[in-house]
Amino acid sequence: MTNSIKPIRKAVLPVAGFGTRVLPATKTIPKEMLPVVDRPALQYVVDEAMAAGIEHFVFVTGRNKGAIEDYFDRAYELEYSLREKGKTDISKTLDALTPKAGSMSFVRQQSALGLGHAIWCARDVIGNDPFAILLPDVLIKSKPSCLAQMVGAYEKVGGNVIAVDAVPKERVSSYGVIAPKGEPNGKLIEMSGMVEKPPVAEAPSNLKITGRYILQPEIMSILKDQEAGAGGEIQLTDAMATLMQSQTFHAYEYDGQDYDCGSKLGYFEAVLAYAMDHDEIGDGAREMVKRFNA
Ligand code: G1P
Repeated sequence: MTNSIKPIRKAVLPVAGFGTRVLPATKTIPKEMLPVVDRPALQYVVDEAMAAGIEHFVFVTGRNKGAIEDYFDRAYELEYSLREKGKTDISKTLDALTPKAGSMSFVRQQSALGLGHAIWCARDVIGNDPFAILLPDVLIKSKPSCLAQMVGAYEKVGGNVIAVDAVPKERVSSYGVIAPKGEPNGKLIEMSGMVEKPPVAEAPSNLKITGRYILQPEIMSILKDQEAGAGGEIQLTDAMATLMQSQTFHAYEYDGQDYDCGSKLGYFEAVLAYAMDHDEIGDGAREMVKRFNA
């Protein structure tokens, strides 16, 4: 890594959204806490970030999201009871999953004004450091973790790096879409632009933005004055398009499979994929899936 490339130690995870696509479950449970096999979806995203060297997590929360803070706290009564019953394995797992004291910040987004606004809410904790963003709706199954792959690429090229994946052209209007510049260099693609949820006919490519970003802190001063864009929301994509006029942006085509846990079908697919790969129930889950196919 050259001296001018600062390491990525902080990550912002926006968790204030309502989760309307998975109601009524999300009436009382934050969508990020819905279980995928035996742990909340959010745990997978935190694990992905930790595997990439993230040391401080900034959660942008809203009303009815208290379960998230509690989840990352110690549960003394439960731990005591597990020890008493000799359930040391589960007790050790809980221990290992509890983050270091002081390594998490919770900031409040009082109104749902859009992803760009949510990220801007984290500005004081981010300060002058480059940082990662992980959208917890999206689980990415990969080894090394998607963010770890991106950090590896960032250490070579610096600037801003965002994860992209090819989708069938007719689906591009559900995503942010990038405009590539020239030929890819391995998994890295230089960019000339990006647009949030374009009509299919106007999309600059079929490369969707997947919900993992490494950004320079200057994005915050752009977000401060960012006007509402697609869907009447303050869009991160619009602010990134502005930052691109003064800084380099690379898209990174990661190795891995993404699951959109914000939708019923995507969530179901994630549960299936993680179950079939699970140490304890993987064999049983694969057998079960075969029976459904028969
Ligand atoms: C957000 C981003 C979009 C990105 C998507 C990935 O959109 O704004 O650029 O492609 O996440 O899931 P949302 O799904 O929140 O509407």
